[in-house]
Amino acid sequence: MTRLLPSSCGVVFSQTREDTTHETQLLDDLSAERRRPLNVLCIASAGDSALAMAAHPGTGRVDAVDVNPAQVHLVALKRAAALRLDAGQQLMFLGGLDATGAQRRQMFEEVAPGLDEAALRFWTMHMDSVAAGVLRIGVFERLLDELRSRLVAAGLDPLARPAQALGHSGWQHAFSEVFDRARVSDVLGAAAVGYAATRSFASHFSHQFASALRRFGGHQGESPVLEDALTATAAPVLAPAHLAAPAEELQLSTRKLHLHVGDVRTALTERAPAQGYDLIQLSSVTDLLPLREVHGVLKQASQTLAAGGAMLLRSINGKTVLADAIKSHLGYDAPTSAQMQRDDRAVFYREIAVGRMALA
Ligand SMILES: C[S@@+](CC[C@H](N)C(=O)[O-])C[C@H]1O[C@@H](n2cnc3c(N)ncnc32)[C@H](O)[C@@H]1O
Repeated sequence: MTRLLPSSCGVVFSQTREDTTHETQLLDDLSAERRRPLNVLCIASAGDSALAMAAHPGTGRVDAVDVNPAQVHLVALKRAAALRLDAGQQLMFLGGLDATGAQRRQMFEEVAPGLDEAALRFWTMHMDSVAAGVLRIGVFERLLDELRSRLVAAGLDPLARPAQALGHSGWQHAFSEVFDRARVSDVLGAAAVGYAATRSFASHFSHQFASALRRFGGHQGESPVLEDALTATAAPVLAPAHLAAPAEELQLSTRKLHLHVGDVRTALTERAPAQGYDLIQLSSVTDLLPLREVHGVLKQASQTLAAGGAMLLRSINGKTVLADAIKSHLGYDAPTSAQMQRDDRAVFYREIAVGRMALA
């Protein structure tokens, strides 16, 4: 097994690969009910979902938190880019479109005044990552790059010839090599495999990608996440969802998004606004916790949600059945959860679950 070195700046996820139509659906419904700006708490991760929620016209404040400071600085960079550059320039700067290192360094000069002090210091120290295009540097993105290379080396082009890929031994082999248990533990931390479901990451991802390939085939635009992960070329094609927002909403969103380094459990107790959060979105974090702590998080969240508020959870490969865990603390919204799971265009998630706080 070849080890994967951490990225020089500590970013694990360069892109958030979630289908944010679910967040939009919940925010649409909540803002129609409440008729006041919504308060949201979410995990920062690579920031694409957080920025998409901040760009939603119904939100007033989005608190995005992450234990990994590098992830928070990444989101600060995307936020500053949204403030200072148009959508096309943002894609060039971030690495979604071709640009030279010199061009990105020059764009950084424009973006820098929009950064907080810590993020400015961080990115100034990591100009090599800025020059490479930050959408390309995450360790998880490098796992996907390796998956693409292995599939190409086996003579497979899953998007163009799905049946050939799915029937070929090279398919399973590529997933087994790339998502080897020890490597996943290296990249995502020991907790990711420690509380994983009995199906290994390799079989989980190979199964999820195979189902998505059967469902969406190579139809362009049907599942951007699938296309990004399996396209035969290495260029990232996953345009962050917030870039589709009208320029005005995007500008405004940069002021709504508040970033915090720290554990979400602390944020739940210390950051909650007086009227509570209307939406708490904690994708994949419960996968990294033993069941007892998942219950602790859900209990804290239920004490922090405003009456009628919603909680959105996703699980990649965690042991905890979210529906069961939610039922001990909140109402489980079975129809919405089933609908989101059925319609989800992201590829990774085994379960998507929505909890509801009773109306007062
Ligand atoms: C759980 S990972 C999963 C990736 C996610 N599904 C995505 O598409 O971005 C997302 C982020 O959660 C952060 N994280 C994990 N546990 C956390 C915790 N207890 N509090 C705050 N952030 C956490 C990690 O640092 C990582 O950046």
